[in-house]
Amino acid sequence: MKDAGHLPPLRDPSFRRSAALLRAFLNEQQDPEHCYTLLARDAADQVQRYVPLKGRVVVDVGGGPGYFAREFRRRGAETYLFEPDSHELTLHGRRAPEGAVVADGYLLPLAEGVADVCFSSNVLEHVADPQTFLSEMVRVTRPGGLIYVSFTNWFSPWGGHEWAPWHYLGADRGRRRFERRTGRPAKHTVGENLFPIHVGTTLRRVRAREDIQVVSARARYWPVLPTLAPRIPVLREVVTWNLLLILRRCP
Ligand SMILES: C[S@@+](CC[C@H](N)C(=O)[O-])C[C@H]1O[C@@H](n2cnc3c(N)ncnc32)[C@H](O)[C@@H]1O
Repeated sequence: MKDAGHLPPLRDPSFRRSAALLRAFLNEQQDPEHCYTLLARDAADQVQRYVPLKGRVVVDVGGGPGYFAREFRRRGAETYLFEPDSHELTLHGRRAPEGAVVADGYLLPLAEGVADVCFSSNVLEHVADPQTFLSEMVRVTRPGGLIYVSFTNWFSPWGGHEWAPWHYLGADRGRRRFERRTGRPAKHTVGENLFPIHVGTTLRRVRAREDIQVVSARARYWPVLPTLAPRIPVLREVVTWNLLLILRRCP
């Protein structure tokens, strides 16, 4: 099985990195292995800016088929993956990842404060109650531990997922258009497994909490000035594309 070890290092932020991620994403259907291996390597690099992974306990919530968990493990972390949908565990023809548990992110089968790093990539827009989901991530993180959470916000050009950018015309129209054009049922339905979530509201909510400190809020894939976009009211809802929050649980 391929791992990220064969990939050349990419500086973050840089045009080279963003272009490589975009190319991999555009080719995701044909080569999901490369796309998610690259994304996992990139996310692990981002985590390692704040905490060394070797020997740490990492919890991946909504980890799907386990590309990220595999990368954390490759770097020496003791890694556990929680995923409520058993089909997602074997996506892309993969074997269910090592250390995977079928469990919901709202109610993790973990004691309080066990994780050095609680990680969630592109899950928050798929849950109806992001505040409760985040509270559970905070609960399982040890005081002083790191929380990595990223999501695609609704007004992002990719907000409608497979039927983007037609979500700008409304969720129903976007979805119907996708089904008409492709002849395939859409994977996502608003209100069922995709929920509009916004940069401004999310930032206000995390900043208002007393149990976490916002270490960084950045546009995850931006090639330059990644912390600028999330600061610009209104415009941030479109240009951020995907918000990455690095949070620390207060001691
Ligand atoms: C777009 S996938 C992201 C998978 C992977 N984390 C990534 O970044 O490629 C969204 C994942 O969130 C999971 N998910 C949805 N609701 C969840 C919940 N309540 N708790 C945990 N995971 C959830 C889905 O089953 C799916 O695997």
